[in-house]
Amino acid sequence: MSAPTLDTRTSGPTGVAHLAPLRPVVGGDTRVPLVDGTEVGYANLDVAASAPALQAVADRVTQVLPLYASVHRGAGYLSQVSTALYETARRTVGAFVGAREDDLTIITRNTTDSLNLLAGCVPAQPDGEPGRVLVLDVEHHANLLPWQRATGATVLTGGPTVAETLAQIRDELADAAAGRPYALLALTGASNVTGESLPVDRIVALAHEHGARVVLDGAQLVPHRRISLEATGVDYLAFSGHKTYAPFGAGALVGRRDWLDAGTPYLAGGGAVRRVRTAVTDWHEGPARHEAGSPNVVGAVALAAACEELAALDPAEVVVHESALRQRLVEGLEAIDRVEVVRVWADAVDPVGVVTFTVSGYDPGLVAAYLSAEHGIGVRDGRFCAHPLLGRLGFDAGAVRASVGVGTAGEEVERLVAAVERLVVEGPQAGYDVVDGLWVVTDDPRPVPEGSGLAGLLATAALGFDEAFGCVPDEV
Ligand SMILES: Cc1ncc(COP(=O)(O)O)c(C=O)c1O
Repeated sequence: MSAPTLDTRTSGPTGVAHLAPLRPVVGGDTRVPLVDGTEVGYANLDVAASAPALQAVADRVTQVLPLYASVHRGAGYLSQVSTALYETARRTVGAFVGAREDDLTIITRNTTDSLNLLAGCVPAQPDGEPGRVLVLDVEHHANLLPWQRATGATVLTGGPTVAETLAQIRDELADAAAGRPYALLALTGASNVTGESLPVDRIVALAHEHGARVVLDGAQLVPHRRISLEATGVDYLAFSGHKTYAPFGAGALVGRRDWLDAGTPYLAGGGAVRRVRTAVTDWHEGPARHEAGSPNVVGAVALAAACEELAALDPAEVVVHESALRQRLVEGLEAIDRVEVVRVWADAVDPVGVVTFTVSGYDPGLVAAYLSAEHGIGVRDGRFCAHPLLGRLGFDAGAVRASVGVGTAGEEVERLVAAVERLVVEGPQAGYDVVDGLWVVTDDPRPVPEGSGLAGLLATAALGFDEAFGCVPDEV
C-alpha cells in the first residue's frame, strides 16, 4: 500500500489565503518558536477566548495614559479629565449597542461580572420566592451559574433544530405564565462552541408575549455583529472588552433601568452610596449603584475605542470576511477523514466565526498542543465552560475550537486546515506527554519570549495551571 499523501481538497485554490485582516491588531505580526527550532508567524485562532487589542485601541490607551488620574470627585484638572473620559466612554459603549434613552450602561469587568450583577436584580415573585429565569443548556457557564445560584433557574434542554428549540421555549414560557411566570429569559447571542444562535427577534417576541424580559449574553456576538437594544427590544446585554479587541479589564451590562435601580448593589463600597451612617445606608441609583470602588477608567476608554473602531467598519464587510473564514474552516475540516465539526442546530443561520471539531483517535488536548508546537497556531481545547452542551452533544471528552475575527488573515485559517490534515495523515512529529492533566511537548525546547521576564518552559502545567481554571475534560 502506498504512503498516504496530503489531500489537495483542503489546500486547493478555493481557499481564503488571499484575505487580509480587516483591521490591524497588536501582535498580529508576532513570531513564535516551533519545536523544530524554526519560527513562524503566530496564528491566533483563539480570539473567542480573548481577542488581541485593535491597534486603534492600543493607540487610544497610549494617548490617554498621561491624562490618567483619580476619577469621580477629584478636583484636580486631570481628575476631571479622567472623569470625563470615563463617563464619555460609558456613553459611547451604550450607544454602540443601541441603548435606549433610559437604559443604564454599567461598566463591569466582563460578561461573567455583568450577568452576576443582573442576577442580583431580578425582581422576586409576589410571594417572595426568587424571580424565575429560563435558560437553555447551550449556555456558557457564565450565563447559567449566576441564574442557578441566585434564582433557581429552569434549564431547558434545547432541541436539534432552531425551530424545535423555539417551540420548546414558547411552550415553557406559556406553561409558566399561567402559574409562576418567568421574569427573565437568559440566552446566548452566539454560542461560544459553534457560533450558532437563535433568532433574537423571535426570542424577544416570545418572551415579551409571556411577560418575561430577555438578557442576551453578547460575549461572542458583540465583537462580530452589530446589535441594537432599541431595534431588537432585547432588555439587557452583557459583553466583554477582552473579547471585543479591548483587553484592558472592562466589560459592560447595558439595559433597562428599573430592575438595576431597585436591585441589590453589586458591590458594597465607596462610590455606590449617597450617604452612610452606622445604622443606615442610602444607596445611589444609576450606574454608580453597581460600580463601587475605583472604576477602571483605562478599561472603559479602551472598550469605547473598540466600539468606535468596530462602528466605523461596514457591518456587511465584517460578516463577509468572518463568514468566508468560517466557511473555509468548516469545509476544509469536514473534508478531512476522521474530523467531525460540532453543531448545535441543524438549521442555524448566520453563525459567527467559531468552529469546534474533533479528530477521531486524538485527544483534543493533544491536537491543540500539536497545533501550537508544530505549527504556531493557537486554538482552545476542552469543554469551553459549556459542560451541559458538550455532554448532550456527546463530546464529554472535549473538542478543539478555532475562532476568527476582524484581525484574522485567511492564511491563518489555511494553515490550520493544512495542519489538521497533516496530523491525520502523518501523525504528530514531536513527543507529547500529559502533565497535571494537560498535554505538553516532552522536553519542550521552545524558549520563552525575550524580555518577558519569564523563566523556564511555557507549559501551562509549569505555571501552576489547574484544571479548575480551564474547564478541561474530567479525564485526559
Ligand atoms: C458566550 C460566552 N459567554 C460568557 C463568557 C464569559 O466571558 P468572560 O470570561 O469575559 O466573563 C464567554 C467566555 O468565553 C463566552 O464565550
